[in-house]
Amino acid sequence: MYNAIIKGTGHFTPEHVLTNADLERMVDTSDEWIVTRTGIRERRTLNGTENIGGSGMASRASAAALEDAGLEPKDVEAIIIATVTPDFRLPSTATLVQQNLGVGRAALMDIVAACTGFIYGVAIARSFVMTGMYKNVLVCGVEHLTSITNYEDRNTCVLFGDGAGAVVVSRAIEGNGNSGILSTYLSGDGQYKDLLHIPLGGSRNPLTPENANSAGRHIYMDGREIFKLAVKEMGDAAERVIADAGMKSSDVDMIIPHQANNRIIQALGKRLKIEPERVYINIDRFGNTSSASVPIALDEAKRNGIVGEGSVVLSVAFGGGLVWGAVLYRL
Ligand code: ACO
Repeated sequence: MYNAIIKGTGHFTPEHVLTNADLERMVDTSDEWIVTRTGIRERRTLNGTENIGGSGMASRASAAALEDAGLEPKDVEAIIIATVTPDFRLPSTATLVQQNLGVGRAALMDIVAACTGFIYGVAIARSFVMTGMYKNVLVCGVEHLTSITNYEDRNTCVLFGDGAGAVVVSRAIEGNGNSGILSTYLSGDGQYKDLLHIPLGGSRNPLTPENANSAGRHIYMDGREIFKLAVKEMGDAAERVIADAGMKSSDVDMIIPHQANNRIIQALGKRLKIEPERVYINIDRFGNTSSASVPIALDEAKRNGIVGEGSVVLSVAFGGGLVWGAVLYRL
């Protein structure tokens, strides 16, 4: 078995900022409610002036990750894109990113695991690298969530933003056995499928002229129920990867979790007995960007020097499905 490392990171967020004050003018909400209940102050959106789609955001984040890794597009052997908002139902966003970046022929796939998609992608990439199948795998979480958000539903429209984050998972050079991806854990339970879903637009309930403007084409979420499950399952997943790596939570330098709600993140830190200074938060500026949130936060933390070579990082996520998972890695 080979050792898999995170060799480079990158991210991209659109320039357009949607603030809580903007949302106060759109639905019955307040800056005070949004900040207190979620921690979000503003989020980025791909509006009409930046019509690059998810594939455009993913390509920019991926190009930055390749540059950080010191690799060329031709070095990439597989592209895994985690997204619930692909540009098209067919072909995959991975094929569009391959073309945009000028990557040669490669394994190209999208995966759907909602907010946990990036964690799933990293676990899959790690398996590819560990088994010797590929040396360099590009993993990108990208979401154009505002394209499926109902701006008449205050329960959800205050939460979501757009963006992309990417990493290159590579085979470690010899003698690097103590670094890289140390352990992963993936799980999920379809009994909760109705808590977070988009009722229309799939093959079972296609969009028709009659329903095309109804709320069912947007995200529906039962936030309260998900909140309870998220706190428990994210905690369990985190404890599991730490134990699997033969470590204790005191060995973790930084938690870089999915940014869904500041209160969920605080509860996770508390359960793991990790003080707030060791929990990375950027939800105040980006909101919930689903599968993009962990790699955006990781790249930010790296570029700001909050984590660096040798740092032990725990990333854990939870999302629609419901699906959840965690990854522990040394940079
Ligand atoms: N402004 C003002 N009031 C609001 C707003 C708003 N934007 N949204 C809801 N409220 C109201 C509700 O109507 C409710 O009023 P009521 O008591 O009169 O009915 C009250 O505030 C409390 O509502 P709750 O839903 O109980 O609020 P809660 O404290 O649970 O916060 C939130 C809601 C932020 C959605 C939270 O439950 C949450 O973050 N849940 C987890 C989300 C998550 O992790 N999702 C998974 C990842 S997302 C993905 O996979 C794409």
